[in-house]
Amino acid sequence: MTYETIRVEIEEGIATITLNRPEVLNALNSQVFNELAAAAKNLGEDEGVRGVILTGGEKVFAAGADIKQMASLNAVEVVKSIRPSRIAFNLIENLQKPVISAIAGYALGGGCELSLTTDVRIAADNAQFGLPEIKLGILPGGGGTQRLPRLIGAGKAKELIFSGDIINAEEALRIGLVNKVVSADQLMAEAKKMAKKFISKGAIALQLAKSCINEGLQVDLETGLQYEHKCFALLFATEDQKEGMQAFLEKRKPNFQGR
Ligand code: HXC
Repeated sequence: MTYETIRVEIEEGIATITLNRPEVLNALNSQVFNELAAAAKNLGEDEGVRGVILTGGEKVFAAGADIKQMASLNAVEVVKSIRPSRIAFNLIENLQKPVISAIAGYALGGGCELSLTTDVRIAADNAQFGLPEIKLGILPGGGGTQRLPRLIGAGKAKELIFSGDIINAEEALRIGLVNKVVSADQLMAEAKKMAKKFISKGAIALQLAKSCINEGLQVDLETGLQYEHKCFALLFATEDQKEGMQAFLEKRKPNFQGR
């Protein structure tokens, strides 16, 4: 599949999706959302791909949804135009593989919201985050009002969304918006190192752990615990569980096969 607004490269089981509209700071238009959705579907079905890194490259992650495309839309048109973002974001969030975003420069508005759909965020020390939609007379419509408070708590999320303030990587780390901050030249190496660590584990265990966390965040504690209980039991039907426990008993490293 050929893409125009993103690039997809696969190396050693890790796919890297790079947003590729540098002339507009990787602003996200409908074509980007459609291509992100297609890439997420393809990578989800590709058994050779065990982990995904999402990045905007060395200079910028994404400066938000494309304001030029949005500016003249009416309410009916905006509902139609925002749908591809919802589809793409859900597909990325629900990929049954670990997804890491590697963020340099601006991650604003829809760009920040896109990073919230990934499992882990690694920031370069030059990264800047914010949901500046309020300054445009709108609100974060790419899941920001929902995913951000679930990640960092309602108080901090409200402060960011009500002010539109942009924060640096260290502040993002302090409030739990990102997992790690590294120097800009180490960003991709660090993302790959983390992806390799994740994909060296039992793929089904990781997939179910991700599902337990994602599903659990949508339901009450008891329902979440019941779901976890079932997934835990299900893993005892896998060869990876046998291998993992046998390897422990034999004092050797496990060799997981993802089945
Ligand atoms: C369209 C954008 C853009 C955007 C930047 N550009 N952000 N085009 N949509 N979101 C374009 C500029 O128009 C300009 O094109 C070029 O990229 C370089 O940007 P500059 O503004 O000249 O760069 P700089 O002075 O360095 O300022 C960087 C910036 C600023 C602080 C990131 O560009 C900015 O504030 N951008 C908008 C950020 C924002 O409000 N994002 C939220 C969008 S709403 P030209 O042709 O002039 O050279 C949103 C809703 C999500 O995301 C909805 C659900 C998905």
